[in-house]
Amino acid sequence: MKILTVIGARPQIIKASALSRAIKNHYNDKIEEVIVHTGQHYDEMMSEVFFSQLQIPEPKYNLNIGSGSHGTQTAKMIEGLEQIILKESPDGVVTYGDTNSTLAAAVAASKIQVPIIHIEAGLRSFDKTMPEEINRILADNVSTLLFTPTKAGYNNLLKEGFSAEIQSHPNFNTPNIYHCGDIMLDNTVYFRDIAINNNEYHKRFGNNFILCTIHRNTNTDNKEKLSDIFISLLEIAENQRIILPLHPRTKKMIPQMLSSDLLSAVGSNKNIEIIDPVGYLEMIYLESESSLVITDSGGVQKEAYFLGKPCIILRPQTEWVEIVETKAAIIADTDKEKIINAYKTLSETQMRQTIKENSKKNSLFGDGKAAEFICKTILDTLS
Ligand code: UD1
Ligand code: UDP
Repeated sequence: MKILTVIGARPQIIKASALSRAIKNHYNDKIEEVIVHTGQHYDEMMSEVFFSQLQIPEPKYNLNIGSGSHGTQTAKMIEGLEQIILKESPDGVVTYGDTNSTLAAAVAASKIQVPIIHIEAGLRSFDKTMPEEINRILADNVSTLLFTPTKAGYNNLLKEGFSAEIQSHPNFNTPNIYHCGDIMLDNTVYFRDIAINNNEYHKRFGNNFILCTIHRNTNTDNKEKLSDIFISLLEIAENQRIILPLHPRTKKMIPQMLSSDLLSAVGSNKNIEIIDPVGYLEMIYLESESSLVITDSGGVQKEAYFLGKPCIILRPQTEWVEIVETKAAIIADTDKEKIINAYKTLSETQMRQTIKENSKKNSLFGDGKAAEFICKTILDTLS
């Protein structure tokens, strides 16, 4: 059995490490994995660092597509992927999540009738102004094996007309859907102790801080929204240290979007530590040691929950509805009042304790063994 895994953006590289590890440890003699990197992310701290830290096999191909408008970037990827899929002739193409690399893999593979294995299927924000929502809907609709991380994701697929019946030989017209848990949890469980026991990280970052990440295009490319986020952070930073590993997109947009007064207030505030993107282990350390996470990232919201940390979501909605339902996270979008109120609510000792306990008790995202289930299912259905 040969599978071709397509990755490109930071979170996909991280997710792919769990599947590669499961293959290496349990299915080495049964599954051959060929990795293709589209090159969507290319800075060392957005790509290379994860291959070395998470021991991911080197990609056999790197398309080196780089950045571009949605159409240009996706079209170049489709062209490159089509050639590789034809050459490698895999039994299935694995694609993760909802980025332009996901969409390109789905289009390229489906048009030459290679079964698509979509990991992190079924998620919906119900907001088609998000490029990710379009990517995930399109990818799901041409996939043969769809693996949903949550029950909500599985139910979304049922509502869209996917059948719960499992076929022994699924195909484009009769796909199989599975609720298998979240592959990101596999990584958090596997790497958590290594990260939190790293003395160098303790020295470098200390503890008692808030962790913040911002990269969503609706926030970075909008003056009012990005300014409101930073005005709120300045207020919180009056009595709290904030560590902000900055995505390159946000780094590029900040000088264009913030007024010079706001820019200098942020730049001179000793409690706001803006740093380059960090590796995965550093990130797990930062999430584990933080008192609170403020983010517009999908993956960081989830990892905060896995690690029992309260989270303020800087988006108007989330695909990870379970986290909000359990009250571990509050959706504030970029509304200053909502952000500050959420900060106050989630800083209460009793609230923090409850979130920590609930995260240990609940298994909303599975048991940390999603990758093994996925490998076994691929072998059972596509061989
Ligand atoms: C992409 C995904 C998003 C995901 C995010 C994870 C799409 C449509 N969006 O958003 O769903 O949450 O990755 O991080 O696929 N850049 C660099 N160096 C890099 C990569 C990017 O400088 O290594 C800069 C470039 O200026 C580029 C911008 O970041 O134009 C945006 O990169 P892009 O990959 O298009 O989208 P992301 O915002 O990273
Ligand atoms: N991440 C990281 N370093 C950083 C920021 C994030 O390793 O500086 C990891 C994070 O732990 C999570 C993933 O990247 O596993 C989330 O990716 P991102 O926020 O870029 O995208 P999203 O999940 O929103 O698609």
